[in-house]
Amino acid sequence: MKRLILFLFLASSLAVAQTAPKPSPLSKPATPIPVIKQNGAVKQMMVNGKPFIMLAGELHNSSASSIDYMKPVWKKLAAMNLNTVIGTVSWELLEPQEGHFDFTLVDDQIQQARAHNMRLVFIWFATWKNANASYAPLWVKKDYKRFPRVQSKDGVAREELTPLGEQSLAADSRAFRTLMRHIRTVDPQHTVIMMQVENETGKTGDSRDRSPLAEAAWNKPVPSELMNYLSENKTKLLPELTGVWGANGFKTSGTWPEVFGTDAYADEVFMAWHVGRYVGKVAEVGKAELPIPMYVNAWLVQHDGQLPGGYPSGGPVSRMHDIWRAAAPKLDLLAPDIYLADFKGVCASYTRSGNPLFIPEARASVPNLFWAIGNHAALGYSPFGIESLPEDTPLAAAYKALGGMIPVLTKYQAEGKVVAVVQETSDQRSQTISIGGYRLNFSFGGGGRGAAVAAQPVTAGVTQPPSPPQHSFALVINTSPDQFVVVGQALSLTAAPDSPGPKIAGFGSIDEGRYEKGVWIPGRRINGDESGGGNRAILRGQSVVVLKIKLYRYE
Ligand code: DGJ
Repeated sequence: MKRLILFLFLASSLAVAQTAPKPSPLSKPATPIPVIKQNGAVKQMMVNGKPFIMLAGELHNSSASSIDYMKPVWKKLAAMNLNTVIGTVSWELLEPQEGHFDFTLVDDQIQQARAHNMRLVFIWFATWKNANASYAPLWVKKDYKRFPRVQSKDGVAREELTPLGEQSLAADSRAFRTLMRHIRTVDPQHTVIMMQVENETGKTGDSRDRSPLAEAAWNKPVPSELMNYLSENKTKLLPELTGVWGANGFKTSGTWPEVFGTDAYADEVFMAWHVGRYVGKVAEVGKAELPIPMYVNAWLVQHDGQLPGGYPSGGPVSRMHDIWRAAAPKLDLLAPDIYLADFKGVCASYTRSGNPLFIPEARASVPNLFWAIGNHAALGYSPFGIESLPEDTPLAAAYKALGGMIPVLTKYQAEGKVVAVVQETSDQRSQTISIGGYRLNFSFGGGGRGAAVAAQPVTAGVTQPPSPPQHSFALVINTSPDQFVVVGQALSLTAAPDSPGPKIAGFGSIDEGRYEKGVWIPGRRINGDESGGGNRAILRGQSVVVLKIKLYRYE
């Protein structure tokens, strides 16, 4: 029976695949459409009308191009407790001949995600894939007159389309619109919750595109749309942009070199505007068909002082967020691919000006996952090349523990009552936080498998330094007066009062347990030896533990 259903599903995809489907009136979705919205203190991803955290993983680039290859992968990802997979749709396989679409791979991913009780985020691999056009269809690649290339100072064209190519934009947008219309038709239950539009955009090898189209634009006035945005938001702009614009006296009109200057950072502003405008238009036509959240991801600046062009110039790095906001207002967020050691610094730089944090690519580090969720209410975390991790990776246990408590976590995130505690270096012994009228002192230790970091992928030729070892981590949730849920590993805690009242804090009770669909399933009461005679709550080092702690005060 299952096979028959799958056959009918795939047969219907192929039937639609021959030509682009005819536009149909926007039908009322069967379930609420996914949306990112402010909920109390934080922005949250709402799926099926409820706050959701994407405990995700991104597939290797080529995996989803083969249904057979993916068969065992789905099972494995479900066993690793992912609730979301970042899959891929490449332009070349979706539209192998101009105007002829094949949705087979799209439909299979939707079908399999549903069958394994997971949601999907799709990457639209089209004009850009790591500052390159390797996923453009061959009919695009070959027609370099209609779809012109970028050029560097050396005058040599690269396999990258210039963001100033209006016909490239039209062709990419048409394909993306067709994809979104198809998803709208086959996915009324919103298995697909978000789209990544393109992948690691921008230009490498030079800080600016020097193609004839780009040179002409460079010497024309900066569009009034951008000038107005900058003037209206002048006091709120990020310091990096204020620096570039201010270096030339905050001019409000003139050509690009007149307003922003002639150095590599001026080039980057020019590129960010044109790349952002292109991607923003693709997102806009897609959203007209199906307005689910959409985002872009960034290949980050790799080290202090690296110039644009060393990393892709014009991509959504944090210093260019204002330009991207002006150029692509339909995007819901700008996301970092974090392979750098300074995970915390990158998170902080991507949450400026209210940008919600979503990490589509990273190493599989459980402490970093906890940091992002606990301190930045991250919408999701997604190690790259997820199917290469062992099924019993420490991340799987963490996803299991967190997956069951999403309703609890998101409720208290909205109330501003969740904090992360993460050991920064292996010689850091303790940390104290203030929460809910108590000072909680955490002692780190116990090692454990949370320290493990996945095999490190490489970002487009850049070998990443290993993360410093981290062992102990926890999320602390203040669920009601005197009550806390602590989920984490390899640490213990004591409490002291941090508000008026009796001077001593004691543990009324410590329970271990777990959450399933937001409901507490109690395990052992551990008020004896397991908590040093009720003196400290201990989360041992072997796996993620969930404790419910009730404090009281006396003197
Ligand atoms: C970043 C890219 O966005 C991914 O598609 C992939 O190429 C990884 N780098 C590989 O590390």
